[in-house]
Amino acid sequence: MNAPATSPTPTAPGGLPLLGHGLQLARNPLPFITSLRDHGPVVRIRIGPTPAYVVTDPALTRKVLVTDAAHYAKGGKIIDALRVFFGDGLATIADGDAHLRNRRLMQPMFNKAHIADRGDAMIEQVASAVGAWPEGQPRDVYEDMNEVTLGAFLVALFGADLPEHLAGEFTALMPDIMEGTIRQTILPPWVTRLPLPANRAHAQRVARLRALIDQAIDHRTRRAAGPPSGAAAAADAGCPHAAAAGEQRTGLFDTLLTAEDPLTRQQLQDEAITLLTGAIETTGTTLAWTLYEITRHPGIEQRLREELATVCADRPLAYEDLEHLPYARRVLQEAIRKYGPAWLVTRTATRDLDLGGHLVPEGADVVWSPYLHQHDPAVFSDPGAFDPDRWTTGDTAATRGSFLAFGDGRRKCIGENFAWAELQIILATVLRTWPSFRLTSRAPRPQAVVTVKPDRMTMRFHRQPAPAPRSTDDPARITTGPEPGPDTEPSPSTG
Ligand code: HEM
Repeated sequence: MNAPATSPTPTAPGGLPLLGHGLQLARNPLPFITSLRDHGPVVRIRIGPTPAYVVTDPALTRKVLVTDAAHYAKGGKIIDALRVFFGDGLATIADGDAHLRNRRLMQPMFNKAHIADRGDAMIEQVASAVGAWPEGQPRDVYEDMNEVTLGAFLVALFGADLPEHLAGEFTALMPDIMEGTIRQTILPPWVTRLPLPANRAHAQRVARLRALIDQAIDHRTRRAAGPPSGAAAAADAGCPHAAAAGEQRTGLFDTLLTAEDPLTRQQLQDEAITLLTGAIETTGTTLAWTLYEITRHPGIEQRLREELATVCADRPLAYEDLEHLPYARRVLQEAIRKYGPAWLVTRTATRDLDLGGHLVPEGADVVWSPYLHQHDPAVFSDPGAFDPDRWTTGDTAATRGSFLAFGDGRRKCIGENFAWAELQIILATVLRTWPSFRLTSRAPRPQAVVTVKPDRMTMRFHRQPAPAPRSTDDPARITTGPEPGPDTEPSPSTG
């Protein structure tokens, strides 16, 4: 890091006088960001008048996130915009003691044992939501996946006994909150401060979300302080399942509520709102793309169904089954690789820095993109193809270093274990509940906003199995049919 910066930093072509590369980022974000690799390991772009430095070499991204992380502070325009509404939750709080303390406090919420304790309650919740879809009607899969993800997350966070009206209101509110949040991060900050109806509506919805979180916290606090629950009473009566039943009634959030050095109510709200927004769209988007790829690859679908049938036979899915579903995990990992889902993340240089021989001036935004690294043809051959088996044969140091979907270093995703559990539960449940499903809309186009989401994706779900896949299908790797990969079919806009 201390070697003198000697290499001139190339500027990406096509910048306009006032807008810089803003138009390319808005119109063709994914092709634009991946094209930067051709210009060098560090490439300067301009967003309006402001320069930003995009890192295209995974080894340098590791420097930014891990080895030199102290000089690349969490920050940038997107984080500033999020902080206005979400306060100092774990994802937006500045680097430093408060972040470390809160991270330490929250880490136990997401350890494997805690997640496993909520596993069966999540499975129950997901099975009831997915089983309630009417057969044969076109459904917006992106919306569905976000809703199912939210339902499972609420059960995990606040316990299986969260009053129905609260769960319902969360579900109704979150899509608008996410949309408003995206708008806030895209628009210039001064526009988001104007007394416009859309700004006021967003502020009101966030206030309502905080009130709902307050009610959920009050509910948990009352449960913790109240008379013995059904589980405790059962334990008194010697019921062997009492401990497990008790776990299902508590939520991951109880870890924060009962901490020795507890957070204030405002901090608890900030953390809950951060978790809700961080957990849903990332996981929901991944699931929507996974289902889409399954509809395009009958061989992959067949292997998934066979694996599930071998593990579960005719009994319902159980949490312990998840570790016996390695093919499902590879399919999900490939969806995460191919579609981001976080495609652009920023840091701010705390002083003049040397990054691989390039000068990054103090205060400049440094951009890294999991999507860019995960589409590097030198590491992932034919990166636009959907090939779950690349994870069987190609799990090398290079692929591990370039698979950065969950970040790295001290700001790495705290919810990664949880995300894997939730992804596997929901995918397995959809497959078990619906013996066949088919895309009814045209091939979706990826839109890079906060995540890489589909512009439109509807499917019909059927209780009858589809006819067996054609014998020409190669279950190991099928790349026939139109490839609407982000690199070949760019999104029309970010907004
Ligand atoms: C497929 C699913 C997910 C993906 C791809 C994902 C991706 C990421 C990435 C890339 C970061 C690092 C951002 C940075 O370096 O600035 C991050 C941080 C974070 N994620 Fe996730 N995430 C996922 C699911 C979740 C879930 C389920 C939760 C909560 C249960 C969660 C909560 C968080 C939080 C709180 C942070 C901030 C951590 C910190 O700064 O200390 N994420 N996530």
